[in-house]
Amino acid sequence: MEIRAAITAVGGYVPEKRLTNFDLEKMVDTSDEWIRDRTGIEERRILEPEKATSDMAVEAIKDLLAKTDYTPEDIDLIICSTVSPDHVYPATANIISDKIGAKNAWGFDMNAACSGFLYALRTGSQFIESGMHKRVLVVGADTMSIRVDYEDRNTCIIFGDGAGCVLLEPNAEGLGIVDSQFYVEGAGRQYLFQKAGGSAVPTTIDTVQNKEHFIHQDGRTVFKFAVKGMADTTEEVMKRNNLTADDIAYLVPHQANKRIIDATANRAGLPSEKVMVNIQRYGNTTNGTIPLCLWEWEKKLKAGDNLLLSAFGGGFAWGCIYLKWSY
Ligand code: UT7
Repeated sequence: MEIRAAITAVGGYVPEKRLTNFDLEKMVDTSDEWIRDRTGIEERRILEPEKATSDMAVEAIKDLLAKTDYTPEDIDLIICSTVSPDHVYPATANIISDKIGAKNAWGFDMNAACSGFLYALRTGSQFIESGMHKRVLVVGADTMSIRVDYEDRNTCIIFGDGAGCVLLEPNAEGLGIVDSQFYVEGAGRQYLFQKAGGSAVPTTIDTVQNKEHFIHQDGRTVFKFAVKGMADTTEEVMKRNNLTADDIAYLVPHQANKRIIDATANRAGLPSEKVMVNIQRYGNTTNGTIPLCLWEWEKKLKAGDNLLLSAFGGGFAWGCIYLKWSY
């Protein structure tokens, strides 16, 4: 039987500090009721200022490794998906490998905005399927609090900090990643982006003063594309694999807005008990959302469960992975 890349362990980490809707009521012109109604979010976690994205990733990996018999030296490759790397370069994956002592691993970062974890998971799976590697760590981690203008009510209510990770290993029993579908539509890039800090708009005193290093989002436009993109791709992957709602154990959606999640689940015909939702506790942790869902639901999953992982985000970039859970 063909070799598939199966998730064999999951880890997660969220910072202690909570930022509630009631805290935000004191910071911008908003209300707990508006935020809950329009997004489903009640609180998010905020990383301590002296810590970085790699520190959350390291905690998540320690959590994962503690559930296995492996040591950091057993890891072949670390892929870190993030939009808030420790530095512009080197890659956060390199910093993580040093901090955990993964002496035999190489690594790199990936950026596909909110869909980054799925892109990284599919990339990591190639190294397993080809036979090149035996153990690949895929990490999704973001410190969104450094990207948010806490005077902008359109964005500051949405995002939070967190990290999750999975271990990929070969499986010859038909379990693991079965299929996937990805898209990018670069024409949508102006609706969700960080204007300054790259080569197009280098950092200057003006870009800092004009707040061009924070998230810019046209929420209403992104919302419309997200509902269609996530629902269409999930449906496409289901049809191609002859899956009906009854065959699916869980939809694992990117946690950007409860209403986007509900629309995707409705189109797939999935009842709420088959949809992983933790947006109320963590908000949108960008690359952290999907692995943090798997982390929280891990004990409920069993070998052979069909999962659909689905995301939409800046770029636009979106996609869906169909996998069979392996343990
Ligand atoms: O993860 C990456 C992908 N990102 C997403 O998928 C995010 C997609 N977008 C969204 O989730 C939603 O568009 C938001 C949550 C960002 C906004 O919700 P919305 O229902 O689309 O609101 P809106 O922007 O259409 O604004 C509706 C009203 C406006 O007032 P008027 O013009 O109708 O008087 C806003 O000014 O709500 C107002 N508003 C707020 N009111 C209270 C906007 N933000 C807030 C706020 N508190 N925080």
